Amino acid sequence: MGYTILIVLHLLGATIWVGGHLVLLLTIVPGALATRDVERIRSFEQGYERIGIPALIIQVVTGLMLAHRFVQGVLDAFTFADRLHTLIAVKLLLLLATAAVGAHARLRIIPRLSAERLPGLAVHVALVTTLAMALLVCGALVRG
Ligand code: HEM
Repeated sequence: MGYTILIVLHLLGATIWVGGHLVLLLTIVPGALATRDVERIRSFEQGYERIGIPALIIQVVTGLMLAHRFVQGVLDAFTFADRLHTLIAVKLLLLLATAAVGAHARLRIIPRLSAERLPGLAVHVALVTTLAMALLVCGALVRG
């Protein structure tokens, strides 16, 4: 696949992943906390999931293909041989953390969501959003 197509898909995935989580964190979660209305989170989640999960999968696939220009595979990135190796290794660690926090929220918190558990979910959303921003910044640093 050509470089331009890869970077366009990677940027499209980034807008969906980062943008979706910012909307969730800054508008949906505060609204749900204020009204103790769990349904607001559920209905956003159900709609967003359908586009957010494919976006994250696209990030991983295109990210690995883009990384191939700088490193000879995942293990090579973890030699931290230079700045680019380090940035790619950090992106992979951030991805792992995203998967862990996201899976915990999706499998443990969302199915049993109640007004009492909303603050716990808010912490998870804040964490995933911070990780998403960090992935974006590390990506931009590859060029800079
Ligand atoms: C939600 C997850 C991710 C987000 C939000 C994200 C975001 C970004 C952004 C905004 C850029 C800058 C593109 C540009 O300079 O035009 C970028 C570049 C890059 N990303 Fe990601 N990324 C994610 C996941 C990944 C993963 C899992 C990898 C795999 C190691 C990866 C590898 C790269 C590489 C190698 C570049 C540099 C591309 C280049 O300039 O040639 N990304 N990313």
